[in-house]
Amino acid sequence: MSVPDDRPVGIGIVGYGLMGRVHAYAYRAIPVYYHGQPAPVRLVGVCDVDATRAKEGVTEAGFAFGTRRVEDLVAHDDIHVIDVCTPNRFHAEAVEAALRAGKHVYCEKPLAFDLPEARRLAQLAVRAGVTHQVVSEYRFFPAMLRARELIADNFAGRIFHVRGAYLHSGYVDPDRPLEWRLRREVIGGGVLMDLGPHLLDLMRWLAGNVESVCALTETFIRERRTPEDPTRRLPVEVEDAIIVLMRFTSGALGTAELSRVATGAEDELRLELHGSNGALGFNLMDPNWLLAYDRTAPPDRRGYTKLATVQYYPPPAAMPSPKFTLGWIRSHVHSQFSFLDAVVHHRSASPSFEDAVRVHELIEACYRSARERRWIGLDEMPEP
Ligand SMILES: NC(=O)c1ccc[n+]([C@@H]2O[C@H](COP(=O)([O-])OP(=O)(O)OC[C@H]3O[C@@H](n4cnc5c(N)ncnc54)[C@H](O)[C@@H]3O)[C@@H](O)[C@H]2O)c1
Repeated sequence: MSVPDDRPVGIGIVGYGLMGRVHAYAYRAIPVYYHGQPAPVRLVGVCDVDATRAKEGVTEAGFAFGTRRVEDLVAHDDIHVIDVCTPNRFHAEAVEAALRAGKHVYCEKPLAFDLPEARRLAQLAVRAGVTHQVVSEYRFFPAMLRARELIADNFAGRIFHVRGAYLHSGYVDPDRPLEWRLRREVIGGGVLMDLGPHLLDLMRWLAGNVESVCALTETFIRERRTPEDPTRRLPVEVEDAIIVLMRFTSGALGTAELSRVATGAEDELRLELHGSNGALGFNLMDPNWLLAYDRTAPPDRRGYTKLATVQYYPPPAAMPSPKFTLGWIRSHVHSQFSFLDAVVHHRSASPSFEDAVRVHELIEACYRSARERRWIGLDEMPEP
């Protein structure tokens, strides 16, 4: 669906919870951050099954209308982009409705509830000929953009090790109820479906495809109360933590550790990469810096350097000046800018739904490995 030159890009958001609010904020901020580029943006419609939330989208974020029905968004001629921010189980119905109506789609991670559904959505998106992007905002941190550039310039040389961890602690409290992120039938898995898409996408983006995985999962708190009735306890069917060994197609070795019970962690995404020429390191809790070690420097000059990546976004980013410190929401602003830029200029966006399918394949391979207690090759997950 082309956006006519004389009209703003119209946005419809499905799901106005945490991420619906973040995305709405980012769309409003884009014209200011990018000096009016890539086009004027208008928040047209917000849909939430909870009518109060849909109303909040109107009064707080400034959407023109709110609704409980996704059909009202996809039928609207002034909406060009459908942005999906519902819990995982409900992504597909909104994405499919949007694609049927020829809308461009920006969808929260993970793209789908499981691998077959992800494959189906990616095929539908390609057939619809629209621009599609899955959210992976950590790609849009200046430190990660710089890391990718350095790797492409052979700064690291041949990559030996890729070490990733994404650690949260929100589920250490045994009184935390069994909300949707802990219910398999809504989220599709545990921490691997929750934090995994972020880390796995980054690891693939920086170090290439994974050939095989060997994974170990654990659920430490095996029963939790339901949100509706504190006296009713149900078994927890998803993992709190997972550790994955990986072999990359390049021959590099990797590890990924994901946990929602890592006491002391807040939003701890760590990446370390070691190669024949150099090494890189990043910690999301210290996002203004990329650590870089140049092994080709004279021995007495070697050591990790803190590269100040701060807010060095490429033009047309115009605000704020790069020296100011970075926050998480800024990466959503750049991710959404990148998507809208692709929509306006009729380009494909990245990461696309096909990239999301590669991440779903990895997730599925990890779960199969943990279940069957053996290494699983990604070639054991052939397209149907
Ligand atoms: N990119 C990130 O950093 C990030 C962070 C958190 C969550 N997420 C992803 O964003 C998505 C939403 O998570 P959240 O934290 O915003 O959840 P949330 O529970 O805060 O909000 C979800 C909203 O969707 C609404 N909803 C549920 N089913 C719906 C349906 N069928 N149609 C319309 N509205 C519906 C709910 O009423 C709620 O308002 C998930 O897929 C999650 O994985 C991404």
